[in-house]
Amino acid sequence: MTHARRHRIQVVAHRGASEEAPEHTLAAYKKAIEDGADALECDVRLTADGHLVCVHDRRVNRTSNGRGAVSALELAELAALDFGSRRTRELWRTRDEEPDWEFRPEDREDTSVLTLERLLELVADAGRRVELAIETKHPTRWAGQVEERLLVLLKRFGLDAPASAAESPVRVMSFSARSLHRVRAASPTLPTVYLLQFVSPRLRDGRLPAGVRIAGPSIRIVRNHPAYIERLKAAGHQVHVWTVNEPQDVDLCVDLGIDAIITNRPRAVLRQLGR
Ligand code: G3P
Ligand code: CA
Repeated sequence: MTHARRHRIQVVAHRGASEEAPEHTLAAYKKAIEDGADALECDVRLTADGHLVCVHDRRVNRTSNGRGAVSALELAELAALDFGSRRTRELWRTRDEEPDWEFRPEDREDTSVLTLERLLELVADAGRRVELAIETKHPTRWAGQVEERLLVLLKRFGLDAPASAAESPVRVMSFSARSLHRVRAASPTLPTVYLLQFVSPRLRDGRLPAGVRIAGPSIRIVRNHPAYIERLKAAGHQVHVWTVNEPQDVDLCVDLGIDAIITNRPRAVLRQLGR
C-alpha cells in the first residue's frame, strides 16, 4: 500500500544531530533544533546521586574521556569529563570539507555531560514546538527510580500530565514494557512508545503492551517485515522507526505511512522530505 506523502512525518533527531556533533551533547541538540527537527530523542540514566543524565551506554568510556558506569558516578564527577572534543575531532577528520556550522569545543557547556533538566530547558527556550522522546535505559535495575525521577522533572516543567496524549510534547520510550507501565500508572495521558528490536511472537498480530499506542520498531524490522508494520497501523497504532539514515529507508517509511523517523541526520532527512 502506498501512503505517499499523504501525512507529515515527524523527524526526530536521534541523540541530537548526532551525525554532525557528538551524541547527547548540548551542541548536538542545539544543532538539531537549528536544523528544524520536529523532535529530539535522548536516552536517560540515573547517576549515583540520583540525577538523570543523557547517556546511551552503561559506561562513559566510548563517549567521554573518562571511565566507569554512569550509575557509579556522581553528577559532579561526570561534569568533570569531556563528552565532546574527541568525537568532534573524529567527525571533522572523516569529512571532505569543514562542517558548515559553528561548533566551539571551548564552550564547556556544549561538551559536558547533559542533564535531562538542561535539555528540557533548551526545549522550553526553543521558540517553537520541539517535542522530546525520552528513552529510559535499563530501568529495571533501579526498580522504578528512573521513572519516578523523570516524572518529578517533567512536573517541574509542567509536562507530566498533558490534557491528552495528542497534545503532549513529551513521550517516554522503552524496550521495557514494565518501565512504560510505571509511567502510565503515574501519568495516564503521557504517551509511551514500546521499542522493538525484533518481532516478538507474542505481539506478531500487531498488539502492543496494554495502554501503549505507539510502536517503535527498528528499521530492520520495517525492511524485513512490512506486513507487520501494516498490522500495527491497522490496529490503530502509530509507528516511530529508528534509526533511519539511508535515503531508501526514508522512502520506505514514507510508503508505509510511518509516523516518525528517528535519525542521526535530521537535516538530510528533512531535505529529502522537501522541508
Ligand atoms: O529511538 C530508539 C533507539 O534509540 C533505540 O536504540 O540503542 O539507539 O538507544 P538505541
Ligand atoms: Ca535511544
